[in-house]
Amino acid sequence: MNKYQMQPDCLIGKTILITGAGAGIGKTLALQCAKLGATVILLGKTVSKLEAVYDQIAALDKCQAAILPLDLRGATEQHYKDLADTIQREYGKLDGLVHNASQLGVLGPFAQIEKALWDEVMQTNVSAQYLLTKSLIPVLTLAEAASILFTTSAVGNQGRAYWGAYSVSKFATEGMMQILADEYENSHLRFNAINPGATRTTMRANAYPAENSSLLKTAQQIMGSYIYLLSDESRAVTGQRFNAQ
Ligand SMILES: NC(=O)c1ccc[n+]([C@@H]2O[C@H](COP(=O)([O-])OP(=O)(O)OC[C@H]3O[C@@H](n4cnc5c(N)ncnc54)[C@H](OP(=O)(O)O)[C@@H]3O)[C@@H](O)[C@H]2O)c1
Repeated sequence: MNKYQMQPDCLIGKTILITGAGAGIGKTLALQCAKLGATVILLGKTVSKLEAVYDQIAALDKCQAAILPLDLRGATEQHYKDLADTIQREYGKLDGLVHNASQLGVLGPFAQIEKALWDEVMQTNVSAQYLLTKSLIPVLTLAEAASILFTTSAVGNQGRAYWGAYSVSKFATEGMMQILADEYENSHLRFNAINPGATRTTMRANAYPAENSSLLKTAQQIMGSYIYLLSDESRAVTGQRFNAQ
């Protein structure tokens, strides 16, 4: 995968939904997918940010985009069912689903985690992924081959002091990916997880306020692994965890 070279039209004809597409890695990925020919569905909670990405995609004059405003903290199962119905009606299938949006919560001693914050992190980072995946599987099944990509972290398979609810949520994310990959092993749906590694975004700055962010990779610099996993090059790959760096 490290030798993968993005081909200019490798996502043509594909419709891809990205959560947290208004900022950070999700925004960069949405723009990259559009540049490579995909129709991108931008899901996020701040409409103005999604509109700005939409405008940038429209300016490419290459492909379509759509905005799906949704706060993953409060969305109900019905919201996800309605969303899946809309995608099936408008696009007929879904080729890619990227679970990118996450909430960091507050880093600190485990015994001091507020129950309300724990619930919020689990709702955004775990329950929302479960509900979104569950509702979209029928639409993903309509694609010739569909890639479902979960976002993990260095603390998603190795616990670390003070990373509390966020770390637990990423362990759950990797577990969800492995269960789905096993259940759909003999299908045309593939499930993988990607760890972006230290990347220059708002979340990273919140986790490490004192570090020199100019030394970090930009989101654009880690796009290769994401595009590989969304392109047909990775059709046979499922149940794996990738480091983007
Ligand atoms: N950056 C890193 O170094 C790093 C390292 C390891 C893993 N990751 C993972 O990579 C992914 C992207 O991280 P990032 O650094 O790009 O984060 P980011 O800059 O904080 O962006 C997160 C995005 O998720 C959206 N989001 C957050 N809560 C949401 C909610 N309740 N409903 C809908 N959308 C929501 C945000 O929308 P708003 O802007 O509207 O709030 C934003 O667009 C995350 O899963 C993160 O855990 C990042």
